[in-house]
Amino acid sequence: MACICVSGGRFLNGEIKIQGSKNAVLPMLAAALLIPGETKFRNCPDIADVRAMAALLKKLGAVVSRDKDMLCVDARYVHPVFLDCGDMADTRGCILLLGALTARFLEAHLAHPGGCVIGARPVDLHLLALRALGVEIEEGEVILAKAAKLTASEVVFPVPSVGATQNAILAAVLAEGRTGLHNVAREPEVVHLCHFLNAAGAKISGIGTAHLLVEGVKQLSPVDYTVPSDRIVAGTYMAAVLSSGGKVFLRGADDAELLAVIKPLRAAGAEFGIYADGILVKKGRRLAAFDYIRTQPYPGFPTDMQSQFVALATLADGVCVIEETIFEARFKVVPELIKMGARIYLDENKAVVEGVMTLAGANLCGKDLRGTAALVIAALAAEGESTITGTEYLERGYEDFVGGLKGLGADIKRVVK
Ligand code: UD1
Repeated sequence: MACICVSGGRFLNGEIKIQGSKNAVLPMLAAALLIPGETKFRNCPDIADVRAMAALLKKLGAVVSRDKDMLCVDARYVHPVFLDCGDMADTRGCILLLGALTARFLEAHLAHPGGCVIGARPVDLHLLALRALGVEIEEGEVILAKAAKLTASEVVFPVPSVGATQNAILAAVLAEGRTGLHNVAREPEVVHLCHFLNAAGAKISGIGTAHLLVEGVKQLSPVDYTVPSDRIVAGTYMAAVLSSGGKVFLRGADDAELLAVIKPLRAAGAEFGIYADGILVKKGRRLAAFDYIRTQPYPGFPTDMQSQFVALATLADGVCVIEETIFEARFKVVPELIKMGARIYLDENKAVVEGVMTLAGANLCGKDLRGTAALVIAALAAEGESTITGTEYLERGYEDFVGGLKGLGADIKRVVK
Protein backbone atom coordinates (compact mmCIF):
# COMPACT_ATOMS: atom_id res chain seq x y z
CA MET A 1 0.00 0.00 0.00
CA ALA A 2 1.30 3.44 -0.92
CA CYS A 3 1.22 6.40 1.41
CA ILE A 4 2.60 9.91 1.51
CA CYS A 5 5.09 11.01 4.16
CA VAL A 6 5.34 14.72 4.87
CA SER A 7 7.64 16.55 7.22
CA GLY A 8 5.93 19.90 7.74
CA GLY A 9 7.31 23.39 8.07
CA ARG A 10 8.99 24.06 4.70
CA PHE A 11 8.08 27.12 2.62
CA LEU A 12 6.99 26.51 -0.97
CA ASN A 13 8.70 28.60 -3.62
CA GLY A 14 9.13 28.55 -7.39
CA GLU A 15 6.87 27.69 -10.28
CA ILE A 16 4.56 24.84 -11.17
CA LYS A 17 2.77 24.16 -14.45
CA ILE A 18 -0.88 23.41 -13.81
CA GLN A 19 -1.96 20.17 -15.48
CA GLY A 20 -4.85 19.81 -17.91
CA SER A 21 -8.30 19.63 -16.37
CA LYS A 22 -9.63 16.23 -15.30
CA ASN A 23 -13.26 17.26 -15.34
CA ALA A 24 -12.90 18.98 -18.71
CA VAL A 25 -11.12 16.13 -20.48
CA LEU A 26 -13.34 13.28 -19.22
CA PRO A 27 -16.47 14.48 -21.09
CA MET A 28 -14.30 15.32 -24.10
CA LEU A 29 -13.01 11.74 -24.13
CA ALA A 30 -16.60 10.50 -24.06
CA ALA A 31 -17.36 12.95 -26.89
CA ALA A 32 -14.51 11.45 -28.92
CA LEU A 33 -16.74 8.39 -29.37
CA LEU A 34 -18.95 10.56 -31.57
CA ILE A 35 -16.10 11.44 -33.90
CA PRO A 36 -15.30 8.91 -36.63
CA GLY A 37 -11.56 9.61 -36.85
CA GLU A 38 -8.53 10.39 -34.71
CA THR A 39 -9.01 13.12 -32.11
CA LYS A 40 -5.96 14.57 -30.39
CA PHE A 41 -6.02 15.87 -26.83
CA ARG A 42 -2.98 17.95 -25.98
CA ASN A 43 -2.16 18.83 -22.37
CA CYS A 44 -4.10 15.72 -21.35
CA PRO A 45 -3.34 14.90 -17.70
CA ASP A 46 -1.85 11.47 -17.02
CA ILE A 47 -4.07 10.58 -14.05
CA ALA A 48 -5.95 7.46 -13.00
CA ASP A 49 -9.37 8.83 -14.04
CA VAL A 50 -8.13 9.50 -17.57
CA ARG A 51 -6.50 6.06 -17.72
CA ALA A 52 -9.80 4.51 -16.56
CA MET A 53 -11.75 6.38 -19.23
CA ALA A 54 -9.17 5.43 -21.88
CA ALA A 55 -9.52 1.77 -20.86
CA LEU A 56 -13.30 2.02 -21.36
CA LEU A 57 -12.87 3.59 -24.79
CA LYS A 58 -10.51 0.75 -25.70
CA LYS A 59 -13.06 -1.80 -24.52
CA LEU A 60 -15.53 -0.13 -26.88
CA GLY A 61 -13.07 -0.64 -29.73
CA ALA A 62 -11.36 2.75 -29.91
CA VAL A 63 -7.63 2.92 -30.49
CA VAL A 64 -6.10 5.01 -27.72
CA SER A 65 -2.45 5.99 -27.52
CA ARG A 66 -0.39 8.46 -25.54
CA ASP A 67 2.65 10.43 -26.66
CA LYS A 68 3.91 12.54 -23.74
CA ASP A 69 1.05 14.93 -22.87
CA MET A 70 -0.99 14.09 -25.98
CA LEU A 71 -3.70 11.45 -25.93
CA CYS A 72 -5.03 10.25 -29.31
CA VAL A 73 -8.39 8.55 -29.61
CA ASP A 74 -9.36 6.93 -32.89
CA ALA A 75 -13.04 6.06 -32.62
CA ARG A 76 -13.58 4.96 -36.23
CA TYR A 77 -14.29 1.33 -35.44
CA VAL A 78 -16.13 1.36 -32.13
CA HIS A 79 -18.97 -0.95 -31.17
CA PRO A 80 -21.33 -1.03 -28.20
CA VAL A 81 -20.48 -3.51 -25.43
CA PHE A 82 -21.86 -3.95 -21.93
CA LEU A 83 -19.81 -2.01 -19.38
CA ASP A 84 -20.13 -3.82 -16.07
CA CYS A 85 -19.57 -2.50 -12.56
CA GLY A 86 -15.91 -3.54 -12.70
CA ASP A 87 -15.47 -1.38 -15.80
CA MET A 88 -17.40 1.55 -14.32
CA ALA A 89 -15.96 1.43 -10.79
CA ASP A 90 -12.95 3.64 -11.18
CA THR A 91 -14.33 7.02 -12.17
CA ARG A 92 -17.57 8.93 -11.88
CA GLY A 93 -16.83 10.50 -15.26
CA CYS A 94 -17.70 7.27 -17.10
CA ILE A 95 -21.42 8.04 -16.71
CA LEU A 96 -20.79 10.42 -19.64
CA LEU A 97 -20.52 7.38 -21.86
CA LEU A 98 -24.28 7.02 -21.49
CA GLY A 99 -25.04 10.07 -23.63
CA ALA A 100 -22.17 9.43 -26.04
CA LEU A 101 -23.00 5.75 -26.64
CA THR A 102 -26.68 6.50 -27.10
CA ALA A 103 -25.84 9.21 -29.62
CA ARG A 104 -23.49 6.97 -31.60
CA PHE A 105 -25.27 3.61 -31.44
CA LEU A 106 -28.79 4.46 -30.24
CA GLU A 107 -28.15 2.11 -27.34
CA ALA A 108 -26.10 1.90 -24.17
CA HIS A 109 -25.84 -0.80 -21.54
CA LEU A 110 -23.79 0.06 -18.50
CA ALA A 111 -23.52 -0.27 -14.74
CA HIS A 112 -23.83 2.68 -12.38
CA PRO A 113 -20.57 4.65 -12.09
CA GLY A 114 -18.15 4.50 -9.17
CA GLY A 115 -15.91 7.40 -8.15
CA CYS A 116 -15.51 9.09 -4.79
CA VAL A 117 -18.20 8.45 -2.18
CA ILE A 118 -18.99 12.06 -1.31
CA GLY A 119 -22.76 11.68 -1.37
CA ALA A 120 -25.56 9.63 -2.91
CA ARG A 121 -24.80 10.95 -6.41
CA PRO A 122 -27.98 9.81 -8.19
CA VAL A 123 -28.26 9.83 -12.00
CA ASP A 124 -31.95 10.74 -12.32
CA LEU A 125 -31.19 14.04 -14.08
CA HIS A 126 -29.01 12.28 -16.65
CA LEU A 127 -31.88 9.92 -17.38
CA LEU A 128 -34.45 12.74 -17.43
CA ALA A 129 -32.50 14.50 -20.19
CA LEU A 130 -32.05 11.39 -22.31
CA ARG A 131 -35.70 10.39 -21.94
CA ALA A 132 -36.69 13.87 -23.12
CA LEU A 133 -34.64 13.23 -26.25
CA GLY A 134 -36.60 10.06 -27.01
CA VAL A 135 -34.48 7.43 -25.28
CA GLU A 136 -36.20 4.56 -23.50
CA ILE A 137 -34.36 3.72 -20.31
CA GLU A 138 -34.60 0.84 -17.89
CA GLU A 139 -32.76 1.49 -14.66
CA GLY A 140 -32.01 -1.24 -12.16
CA GLU A 141 -28.62 -2.52 -11.14
CA VAL A 142 -27.58 -1.54 -14.64
CA ILE A 143 -28.80 1.13 -17.01
CA LEU A 144 -30.19 0.04 -20.37
CA ALA A 145 -30.88 2.81 -22.89
CA LYS A 146 -32.38 2.36 -26.35
CA ALA A 147 -33.78 4.74 -28.94
CA ALA A 148 -35.19 4.43 -32.45
CA LYS A 149 -33.68 7.86 -33.06
CA LEU A 150 -32.73 10.88 -30.97
CA THR A 151 -35.20 13.72 -31.34
CA ALA A 152 -34.58 17.33 -30.42
CA SER A 153 -36.53 18.51 -27.43
CA GLU A 154 -36.77 21.08 -24.63
CA VAL A 155 -35.14 19.84 -21.42
CA VAL A 156 -35.59 21.73 -18.17
CA PHE A 157 -33.32 20.61 -15.34
CA PRO A 158 -34.89 21.04 -11.88
CA VAL A 159 -31.39 21.74 -10.51
CA PRO A 160 -28.20 22.28 -12.46
CA SER A 161 -26.01 19.20 -12.73
CA VAL A 162 -22.61 19.23 -14.43
CA GLY A 163 -22.68 15.59 -15.53
CA ALA A 164 -26.35 15.59 -16.59
CA THR A 165 -25.82 18.76 -18.63
CA GLN A 166 -22.82 17.18 -20.33
CA ASN A 167 -24.70 13.95 -21.05
CA ALA A 168 -27.60 15.94 -22.52
CA ILE A 169 -25.21 17.88 -24.76
CA LEU A 170 -23.53 14.67 -25.91
CA ALA A 171 -26.91 13.13 -26.77
CA ALA A 172 -28.22 16.27 -28.49
CA VAL A 173 -25.31 17.15 -30.80
CA LEU A 174 -26.25 14.50 -33.35
CA ALA A 175 -30.02 14.56 -32.71
CA GLU A 176 -32.29 15.74 -35.47
CA GLY A 177 -33.40 19.35 -34.89
CA ARG A 178 -32.78 21.96 -32.24
CA THR A 179 -32.60 21.03 -28.56
CA GLY A 180 -33.05 23.60 -25.82
CA LEU A 181 -31.37 22.78 -22.51
CA HIS A 182 -32.52 24.96 -19.64
CA ASN A 183 -31.19 25.58 -16.13
CA VAL A 184 -27.96 23.85 -17.16
CA ALA A 185 -24.77 23.85 -15.12
CA ARG A 186 -22.49 26.74 -16.09
CA GLU A 187 -19.27 25.19 -14.78
CA PRO A 188 -16.21 25.88 -16.97
CA GLU A 189 -16.07 22.13 -17.70
CA VAL A 190 -19.47 22.39 -19.44
CA VAL A 191 -18.23 25.43 -21.36
CA HIS A 192 -15.06 23.59 -22.42
CA LEU A 193 -17.06 20.59 -23.65
CA CYS A 194 -19.20 22.90 -25.80
CA HIS A 195 -16.13 24.61 -27.28
CA PHE A 196 -14.55 21.24 -27.98
CA LEU A 197 -17.68 19.94 -29.72
CA ASN A 198 -18.08 23.16 -31.73
CA ALA A 199 -14.46 22.79 -32.85
CA ALA A 200 -15.47 19.33 -34.09
CA GLY A 201 -18.40 20.77 -36.05
CA ALA A 202 -21.24 20.86 -33.52
CA LYS A 203 -23.55 23.87 -33.33
CA ILE A 204 -24.00 24.84 -29.70
CA SER A 205 -24.91 28.37 -28.64
CA GLY A 206 -25.65 30.07 -25.34
CA ILE A 207 -22.34 28.70 -24.03
CA GLY A 208 -21.63 29.82 -20.47
CA THR A 209 -25.28 30.70 -19.78
CA ALA A 210 -28.02 28.66 -18.11
CA HIS A 211 -29.69 28.03 -21.49
CA LEU A 212 -27.98 26.08 -24.25
CA LEU A 213 -29.23 25.63 -27.77
CA VAL A 214 -27.91 22.56 -29.56
CA GLU A 215 -28.59 22.44 -33.27
CA GLY A 216 -28.15 18.80 -34.32
CA VAL A 217 -25.55 18.12 -37.02
CA LYS A 218 -25.11 15.03 -39.19
CA GLN A 219 -21.50 14.31 -38.32
CA LEU A 220 -18.55 15.55 -36.27
CA SER A 221 -14.94 15.66 -37.50
CA PRO A 222 -11.64 14.96 -35.74
CA VAL A 223 -9.96 17.84 -33.94
CA ASP A 224 -6.61 18.63 -32.40
CA TYR A 225 -7.54 20.20 -29.07
CA THR A 226 -5.64 21.57 -26.10
CA VAL A 227 -7.22 20.69 -22.76
CA PRO A 228 -7.46 23.80 -20.55
CA SER A 229 -5.77 23.94 -17.17
CA ASP A 230 -7.40 22.38 -14.12
CA ARG A 231 -8.93 25.08 -11.93
CA ILE A 232 -9.21 22.76 -8.93
CA VAL A 233 -5.58 21.66 -9.18
CA ALA A 234 -4.60 25.35 -9.40
CA GLY A 235 -6.75 26.07 -6.36
CA THR A 236 -5.22 23.15 -4.48
CA TYR A 237 -1.66 24.39 -5.09
CA MET A 238 -2.83 27.85 -4.03
CA ALA A 239 -4.06 26.37 -0.76
CA ALA A 240 -0.79 24.47 -0.32
CA VAL A 241 1.23 27.70 -0.64
CA LEU A 242 -1.10 29.54 1.72
CA SER A 243 -0.82 26.74 4.23
CA SER A 244 2.97 26.34 4.14
CA GLY A 245 3.94 29.90 3.35
CA GLY A 246 6.04 31.04 0.39
CA LYS A 247 5.53 32.36 -3.11
CA VAL A 248 4.66 30.25 -6.17
CA PHE A 249 3.75 30.99 -9.78
CA LEU A 250 0.94 28.72 -11.02
CA ARG A 251 1.69 28.57 -14.75
CA GLY A 252 -1.41 28.24 -16.89
CA ALA A 253 -3.88 28.88 -14.04
CA ASP A 254 -6.87 30.89 -15.24
CA ASP A 255 -7.99 33.50 -12.71
CA ALA A 256 -11.35 33.98 -14.46
CA GLU A 257 -12.35 30.44 -13.45
CA LEU A 258 -11.11 30.92 -9.89
CA LEU A 259 -12.78 34.17 -8.84
CA ALA A 260 -14.87 32.52 -6.11
CA VAL A 261 -11.73 30.92 -4.67
CA ILE A 262 -9.40 33.91 -4.95
CA LYS A 263 -11.87 36.41 -3.45
CA PRO A 264 -12.11 34.90 0.07
CA LEU A 265 -8.39 34.10 0.07
CA ARG A 266 -7.54 37.69 -0.79
CA ALA A 267 -9.93 38.99 1.88
CA ALA A 268 -8.13 36.71 4.37
CA GLY A 269 -4.76 38.27 3.53
CA ALA A 270 -3.37 36.12 0.69
CA GLU A 271 -1.56 38.04 -2.03
CA PHE A 272 -2.08 37.38 -5.73
CA GLY A 273 -0.51 38.59 -8.95
CA ILE A 274 -2.71 37.94 -11.96
CA TYR A 275 -0.88 37.54 -15.28
CA ALA A 276 -1.85 36.43 -18.78
CA ASP A 277 0.10 33.19 -18.37
CA GLY A 278 -0.73 32.32 -14.78
CA ILE A 279 -1.25 33.38 -11.19
CA LEU A 280 1.34 34.27 -8.57
CA VAL A 281 0.28 33.39 -5.05
CA LYS A 282 2.05 34.55 -1.93
CA LYS A 283 1.50 34.24 1.78
CA GLY A 284 2.85 37.21 3.71
CA ARG A 285 1.24 36.64 7.09
CA ARG A 286 -1.10 34.29 8.92
CA LEU A 287 -4.45 34.19 7.11
CA ALA A 288 -7.48 35.72 8.79
CA ALA A 289 -10.54 33.49 9.12
CA PHE A 290 -12.64 33.38 5.95
CA ASP A 291 -16.01 34.99 5.84
CA TYR A 292 -18.82 32.46 5.60
CA ILE A 293 -18.05 29.98 2.80
CA ARG A 294 -20.94 28.19 1.11
CA THR A 295 -20.42 25.75 -1.76
CA GLN A 296 -22.63 26.48 -4.74
CA PRO A 297 -22.91 25.74 -8.44
CA TYR A 298 -20.58 27.86 -10.60
CA PRO A 299 -19.94 30.78 -10.44
CA GLY A 300 -20.31 30.14 -6.70
CA PHE A 301 -17.65 28.60 -4.47
CA PRO A 302 -16.74 25.11 -5.80
CA THR A 303 -17.47 22.06 -3.67
CA ASP A 304 -14.21 20.60 -5.03
CA MET A 305 -12.29 23.28 -3.05
CA GLN A 306 -14.23 22.86 0.19
CA SER A 307 -11.92 20.33 1.89
CA GLN A 308 -8.82 22.37 1.05
CA PHE A 309 -10.48 25.45 2.62
CA VAL A 310 -11.35 23.51 5.77
CA ALA A 311 -7.65 22.58 6.01
CA LEU A 312 -6.61 26.23 5.57
CA ALA A 313 -9.20 27.45 8.07
CA THR A 314 -7.74 25.23 10.79
CA LEU A 315 -4.72 27.57 11.01
CA ALA A 316 -6.47 30.88 10.26
CA ASP A 317 -6.87 33.65 12.79
CA GLY A 318 -10.48 33.40 13.95
CA VAL A 319 -13.58 31.31 13.44
CA CYS A 320 -14.88 30.34 10.05
CA VAL A 321 -18.08 28.57 9.00
CA ILE A 322 -17.96 26.43 5.87
CA GLU A 323 -21.26 25.12 4.53
CA GLU A 324 -21.52 22.26 2.03
CA THR A 325 -24.63 22.36 -0.13
CA ILE A 326 -23.77 20.07 -3.06
CA PHE A 327 -22.55 16.72 -1.66
CA GLU A 328 -23.72 15.50 1.74
CA ALA A 329 -20.69 13.34 2.63
CA ARG A 330 -17.91 15.81 2.06
CA PHE A 331 -16.59 16.37 5.56
CA LYS A 332 -14.58 13.15 5.85
CA VAL A 333 -11.40 15.14 6.44
CA VAL A 334 -12.72 16.61 9.65
CA PRO A 335 -11.92 13.71 12.05
CA GLU A 336 -8.46 13.45 10.46
CA LEU A 337 -7.74 17.15 10.92
CA ILE A 338 -8.94 16.88 14.53
CA LYS A 339 -6.23 14.22 15.04
CA MET A 340 -3.73 16.97 14.17
CA GLY A 341 -5.10 19.31 16.82
CA ALA A 342 -7.59 21.20 14.66
CA ARG A 343 -10.69 22.59 16.35
CA ILE A 344 -13.66 21.78 14.15
CA TYR A 345 -17.29 21.28 15.11
CA LEU A 346 -19.66 19.67 12.63
CA ASP A 347 -23.24 20.84 12.57
CA GLU A 348 -25.00 18.83 9.84
CA ASN A 349 -23.75 20.35 6.59
CA LYS A 350 -21.67 23.05 8.26
CA ALA A 351 -18.16 22.91 9.66
CA VAL A 352 -17.33 25.52 12.26
CA VAL A 353 -13.56 25.88 12.28
CA GLU A 354 -11.77 27.72 15.06
CA GLY A 355 -8.23 28.46 13.91
CA VAL A 356 -5.32 27.23 16.06
CA MET A 357 -1.67 28.40 16.01
CA THR A 358 -0.18 25.00 15.12
CA LEU A 359 -1.14 21.56 13.89
CA ALA A 360 0.82 18.44 14.83
CA GLY A 361 1.82 15.74 12.34
CA ALA A 362 -0.24 12.53 12.58
CA ASN A 363 -1.17 9.31 10.78
CA LEU A 364 -3.99 10.37 8.51
CA CYS A 365 -6.45 8.49 6.36
CA GLY A 366 -7.48 10.04 3.03
CA LYS A 367 -10.96 8.95 1.99
CA ASP A 368 -11.66 10.85 -1.21
CA LEU A 369 -9.81 12.80 -3.88
CA ARG A 370 -10.02 16.39 -2.61
CA GLY A 371 -10.01 15.33 1.03
CA THR A 372 -6.69 13.54 0.60
CA ALA A 373 -5.23 16.66 -1.04
CA ALA A 374 -6.53 18.68 1.92
CA LEU A 375 -4.73 16.39 4.37
CA VAL A 376 -1.47 16.88 2.46
CA ILE A 377 -2.04 20.64 2.67
CA ALA A 378 -2.53 20.47 6.43
CA ALA A 379 0.51 18.19 6.83
CA LEU A 380 2.73 20.66 4.94
CA ALA A 381 2.03 23.26 7.62
CA ALA A 382 2.05 20.93 10.63
CA GLU A 383 4.90 20.48 13.07
CA GLY A 384 6.55 17.10 12.63
CA GLU A 385 5.86 14.10 10.43
CA SER A 386 2.57 12.98 8.91
CA THR A 387 1.72 9.83 7.03
CA ILE A 388 -1.27 10.01 4.72
CA THR A 389 -3.05 7.08 3.10
CA GLY A 390 -5.50 7.47 0.21
CA THR A 391 -2.96 7.95 -2.58
CA GLU A 392 -5.28 5.92 -4.82
CA TYR A 393 -7.84 8.74 -4.52
CA LEU A 394 -5.28 11.49 -4.97
CA GLU A 395 -3.89 9.87 -8.09
CA ARG A 396 -7.33 9.91 -9.71
CA GLY A 397 -7.08 13.63 -10.19
CA TYR A 398 -3.58 14.95 -9.50
CA GLU A 399 -0.66 14.28 -11.81
CA ASP A 400 2.39 13.69 -9.60
CA PHE A 401 1.16 15.88 -6.72
CA VAL A 402 4.01 14.66 -4.53
CA GLY A 403 6.63 15.49 -7.20
CA GLY A 404 5.03 18.89 -7.80
CA LEU A 405 5.19 19.84 -4.12
CA LYS A 406 8.69 18.43 -3.74
CA GLY A 407 9.82 20.58 -6.67
CA LEU A 408 8.53 23.61 -4.77
CA GLY A 409 10.56 22.70 -1.68
CA ALA A 410 8.25 20.49 0.37
CA ASP A 411 9.74 17.63 2.38
CA ILE A 412 7.41 14.98 0.97
CA LYS A 413 7.72 11.50 -0.46
CA ARG A 414 5.55 8.65 -1.68
CA VAL A 415 6.34 5.40 0.08
CA VAL A 416 5.15 1.91 -0.84
CA LYS A 417 4.80 -0.30 2.22
C1 UD1 B 1 -19.07 17.07 -11.22
C2 UD1 B 1 -17.58 16.90 -10.99
C3 UD1 B 1 -17.28 16.96 -9.50
C4 UD1 B 1 -17.85 18.23 -8.89
C5 UD1 B 1 -19.34 18.38 -9.23
C6 UD1 B 1 -19.92 19.70 -8.78
C7 UD1 B 1 -16.88 15.48 -12.82
C8 UD1 B 1 -16.40 14.14 -13.26
N1 UD1 B 1 -17.15 15.62 -11.52
O1 UD1 B 1 -19.71 15.96 -10.59
O2 UD1 B 1 -15.86 16.95 -9.34
O3 UD1 B 1 -17.72 18.18 -7.49
O4 UD1 B 1 -19.52 18.29 -10.65
O5 UD1 B 1 -19.22 20.76 -9.33
O6 UD1 B 1 -16.96 16.40 -13.59
N2 UD1 B 1 -27.64 15.33 -8.81
C9 UD1 B 1 -28.88 14.72 -8.74
N3 UD1 B 1 -29.23 13.91 -9.78
C10 UD1 B 1 -28.42 13.71 -10.87
C11 UD1 B 1 -27.18 14.35 -10.91
C12 UD1 B 1 -26.81 15.16 -9.85
O7 UD1 B 1 -29.62 14.88 -7.80
O8 UD1 B 1 -28.81 12.98 -11.79
C13 UD1 B 1 -27.23 16.21 -7.68
C14 UD1 B 1 -25.96 15.71 -6.98
O9 UD1 B 1 -26.24 14.74 -6.00
C15 UD1 B 1 -25.41 17.00 -6.41
C16 UD1 B 1 -25.81 18.05 -7.46
O10 UD1 B 1 -26.87 17.45 -8.22
O11 UD1 B 1 -26.06 17.32 -5.20
C17 UD1 B 1 -24.71 18.46 -8.39
O12 UD1 B 1 -24.05 17.32 -8.89
P1 UD1 B 1 -23.40 17.31 -10.35
O13 UD1 B 1 -23.22 18.72 -10.81
O14 UD1 B 1 -24.18 16.39 -11.21
O15 UD1 B 1 -21.97 16.67 -10.07
P2 UD1 B 1 -21.21 15.60 -10.94
O16 UD1 B 1 -21.45 15.86 -12.40
O17 UD1 B 1 -21.44 14.23 -10.41
